Amino acid sequence: MHFQWYPGHMTKARRMMQENIKLIDLIIELVDARVPLGSRNPDIDELGKNKARLILLNKSDLAEERLNDEWIEYFKEKGYSAVKVNSKKGGGMNQIRAAIQEACKEKTERDRKRGILNRPVRAMVVGIPNVGKSTFINSLAGKACTKTGNKPGVTKGKQWIRLNKNVELLDTPGILWPKFEDQEVGKKLAFIGSIKDEILQTEELSTELIKFLNAKYPGVLEEKYSIEHSEDGYECLASIAKSRHCVVRGSELDTEKAAAILLDDFRSGKLGRISLERP
Ligand code: G4P
Repeated sequence: MHFQWYPGHMTKARRMMQENIKLIDLIIELVDARVPLGSRNPDIDELGKNKARLILLNKSDLAEERLNDEWIEYFKEKGYSAVKVNSKKGGGMNQIRAAIQEACKEKTERDRKRGILNRPVRAMVVGIPNVGKSTFINSLAGKACTKTGNKPGVTKGKQWIRLNKNVELLDTPGILWPKFEDQEVGKKLAFIGSIKDEILQTEELSTELIKFLNAKYPGVLEEKYSIEHSEDGYECLASIAKSRHCVVRGSELDTEKAAAILLDDFRSGKLGRISLERP
C-alpha cells in the first residue's frame, strides 16, 4: 500500500493559504492529538514565519492523556504556545482565549509602542483535512459572536468572526495538505481518516491497524470484539467479521464490512484512547 497526496489539491491549497496569511497576525494550527507530528505540515513554518503561532492538540479525548501532556511539553520546548482541546465537546475554550492573548503578546506590545491601541488580533485556523477545523471554529465562536465582513482593508468576501474586543477569526480555515516522506506516517494518517478511504484498500489498512494495536495496545481487540488473539491481521479481521455477524452470500465472511467497522470504532474512540505517536 502506498500513500500520497494529490499535487492538484496542494497547489490550490497553498495559493489560498499564501493569500490569507497576509491578512493575519496569528496562526492557530490544529494537529491531531493521536499523531501530533505526522498531522502537521512542516511548510507552515516557512509560510507562517513572522506570525504569532499557537498549536492546538485537537481530539485530545481520543489520545492517551499522559501522552497529550508529553506532547504539550514537547511543543512548548520548541518555542510554540500549545494547548490540548476537545472541539467536539468544547473543552478548553477559555484556556484558548488566554493562550491567544499570550501568543500575541509581542505584537500587542509592538502596537502599543507605536501608539496603536486596541487593534484586534486577526487569527486564522489551519490544519490538514479532518483534523477538526470547522468543529473548532464553531466551538470557539459559539453562537454569540457577530460576523464582521467587507470592512475597509479586508479583501472583499472575507468574513471575520469577532471573538471578543481583542480577537477576530477568519471564518474559513486554511487547508493544509498532509506532507510526509515516511510511509509509516502515511499509514497513521490513513488510520485517523485524513487520507480518504476511497483511495485506500480498507481491508489492507485495517490489517495494518490490527498489527499496530496488537503490538502497542495488546488485548484491546480481543476485549472489544470478544475474539481470540491472533498475530495474523487477516485472521483477526475474519474473527471480527464473525463476531459481528458480517456475512455475504449466506455464509461468506464479509471482511470488508468488518474492516469498515474496525476503522470506524478506532476513529470514534470506541476502542479507547489510543495514541499513534510518542514524543
Ligand atoms: P475539518 O474541518 O478539519 O475537515 O474537520 P471537521 O471539523 O469537519 O471534523 C472532522 C471530524 O472530527 C468530525 O466528525 C468532527 O465531529 C470530529 N471532531 C472534531 N474535533 C473533535 C474532537 O476534539 N474530538 C473528537 N472526538 N472528534 C472531533 P465526523 O465524523 O465527520 O462528524 P460527526 O461525528 O461530528 O457527525
